[in-house]
Amino acid sequence: MSKKILVIPGDGIGQEVTTWGKKVLETIADNYGHQFTFDEGIMGHVAIEATGEPLPAETLEKAKQSDAILFGAIGHAKYDNDPTLKVRPEQGLLKIRKELGLYANLRPIKLFDDLLQASSIKPEILQGADILFFRELTGDVYFGEKKRSEDRNTASDLMIYHKYEVERIARKAFEAARTRKKKLCSVDKANVLEASRLWREVVQELAKEYPDVETEHMFIDNAAMQLIKDPKRFDVVVTGNLFGDILTDEASQVAGSMGMLASASVGDKVGFYEPIHGSAHDIAGKGLANPLASILSAALLLDISFGLQEESQRIIKAVDASLRQGFRTMDIATKHTENQFLLGTEAMGLKVIENLT
Ligand code: IPM
Ligand code: MN
Repeated sequence: MSKKILVIPGDGIGQEVTTWGKKVLETIADNYGHQFTFDEGIMGHVAIEATGEPLPAETLEKAKQSDAILFGAIGHAKYDNDPTLKVRPEQGLLKIRKELGLYANLRPIKLFDDLLQASSIKPEILQGADILFFRELTGDVYFGEKKRSEDRNTASDLMIYHKYEVERIARKAFEAARTRKKKLCSVDKANVLEASRLWREVVQELAKEYPDVETEHMFIDNAAMQLIKDPKRFDVVVTGNLFGDILTDEASQVAGSMGMLASASVGDKVGFYEPIHGSAHDIAGKGLANPLASILSAALLLDISFGLQEESQRIIKAVDASLRQGFRTMDIATKHTENQFLLGTEAMGLKVIENLT
């Protein structure tokens, strides 16, 4: 198979971790006889520094020409501490999601057996949890009109959803539920928000086409609680952009660490794959970051964009084997477990490559 992959490392630890996602893809190409050609693009703080723009036209063009995109992370402490800055790294990510029509963000939450101790949740609550989130990615308060009064004392972000936006993400979630435990939980705040009432109406209507899927509706506040109380009760979850952002960071604890979670953003065109973690500037450049989320993003890329299920599973098995052998980056290391070896980004990446061959 011959494919073009664009790598966008982005900011902070994005640089270090995508190196390993890419190396894993190269190893798979060698092992299975595929031709993957790689190009690189800039986005985020690094792009602002180089060009003044968070998403340069050249990067967007390269993205449109590629068969899949592997992205790292975005953001810089400088902007977090100065909310008055107008040009911000995150705008790059939001723009590329919109421009590429990436309306569905899939975030699979699955705990590797050997990481049962790495979470702050009790092992007996976690064991067997397996959730697939569908976060809507191009609507909601993220993209609704933003306003600031002239005296700067009042601000608003419009929470807006159109029927077609809810329908297309919900359809993807229903279809996925059919291939799993046939359970779908739609999360909203329909007791308060009009946009959520539209959301619920559309999901209820669509549910009639999927009588084989058990559909439930849950308010976001309750869902946030249930996720920690009993993560096993969820199978497929579908929710809006903002609720999905928050809920999946919380759900990362069900997978042991943010450093383990990969995501796929898809729409009608090219797929975009990224860890759900941020740029982690506190550890950037120190070789401490966990490369596994980027490596697992590469696995999602092969599965979803290229239909290479066997190759994708091979990567997941190599990650599993590395964890079973006791190798840990600092975010997933647990003091009370023996036979663990603390590794940096590079050594961990190399272990996975070793286990791939
Ligand atoms: C994510 C991130 C982004 C988001 C930020 C960096 C804009 O938190 O992908 O979850 O809020 O969508
Ligand atoms: Mn987030």
